[in-house]
Amino acid sequence: MSQLHSIALPSYLDQSDEVRARFERINQRETILEVRNLHKRYRSAQGETEALRDLNFQVRRREFVCVIGPSGCGKSTLIRILAGLESHSSGDVLLDGKPVKGPGRDRGMVFQGYSLFPWLTVKGNVMFGPEMSGYSRNSAETQARTWLDLVGLTKFADAYPHQLSGGMRQRVAIARALVNQPRILLMDEPFGALDAQTRAKMQSHLLDIWKNIDITVLFITHDLDEAIYLADRILVLKPHPGEVQEVIEVPVPRPRSPGQFNGPEFRATKARLETLIHPPTEEETTDEAATLPNHMIRFTDVTDNVE
Ligand SMILES: Nc1ncnc2c1ncn2[C@@H]1O[C@H](COP(=O)(O)OP(=O)(O)OP(=O)(O)O)[C@@H](O)[C@H]1O
Ligand SMILES: [Mg+2]
Repeated sequence: MSQLHSIALPSYLDQSDEVRARFERINQRETILEVRNLHKRYRSAQGETEALRDLNFQVRRREFVCVIGPSGCGKSTLIRILAGLESHSSGDVLLDGKPVKGPGRDRGMVFQGYSLFPWLTVKGNVMFGPEMSGYSRNSAETQARTWLDLVGLTKFADAYPHQLSGGMRQRVAIARALVNQPRILLMDEPFGALDAQTRAKMQSHLLDIWKNIDITVLFITHDLDEAIYLADRILVLKPHPGEVQEVIEVPVPRPRSPGQFNGPEFRATKARLETLIHPPTEEETTDEAATLPNHMIRFTDVTDNVE
């Protein structure tokens, strides 16, 4: 059945020789992260919620993998399990072949909310990890400066988080995650709260960083364009409970640039993702509001009829 489907809609599966060769190279690299038969059930006073069901995937070294799926399908649950912040009910999570048993410096985390320490300077925030790991103040400071350079924030080393824009704060968060030299960077909608222009800049900036260092990235997003622009492969999860619905090898060549957004590979991939995800359109959202009972939306007495 899926083969028939592929024949009917082949374009997102078409890869140039260059892209195909790149995936062949990626597939020969070592596996950094392996998730096998992962299940997660939450138990609470309200009952049991199955958040993830039989999830299986692998991420290769220096691969950039995006995860998309409808709201509530378990994306944040997955990333919290990978980070060791949440236990799983059954299955295996292996980092470099070893089971994940709690948080560790081998995984860097960047979330949507700004999680910087407000009482520390930018440099202090980045130094925090190395200092906690026992590096001397001098060494931690040197490391912090290196990473602040990489994210372009050298001039703001002595500023406090509240003095920075949202994009800059996320760059500090990236530096703070990378200073520990993790094997994998786990990102949960890190640019979700940024305006469109800053978000686009941050995406390009992240690709630049990724190109320059040995880091593997698992990036969760709702934004289909963002996923296509960034990823080697996109893991599409089914609605609640999360299961892998499809893994897409993005056929857009690298290096990526915003000019590719209108290219045939980009559009074909987006069309495929849209059929898989079915995001509610603005029209549907408005329709939903229109079905609210009258007393819910009429807060004031209206004297004229608004069509
Ligand atoms: N601590 C918890 N206790 C009970 N249920 C939870 C808990 N955390 C998440 N869930 C449930 O697990 C499911 C998956 O939640 P999760 O936050 O992982 O989804 P998500 O894909 O990240 O959603 P979104 O796209 O809105 O961020 C949801 O049904 C949610 O209500
Ligand atoms: Mg989430």
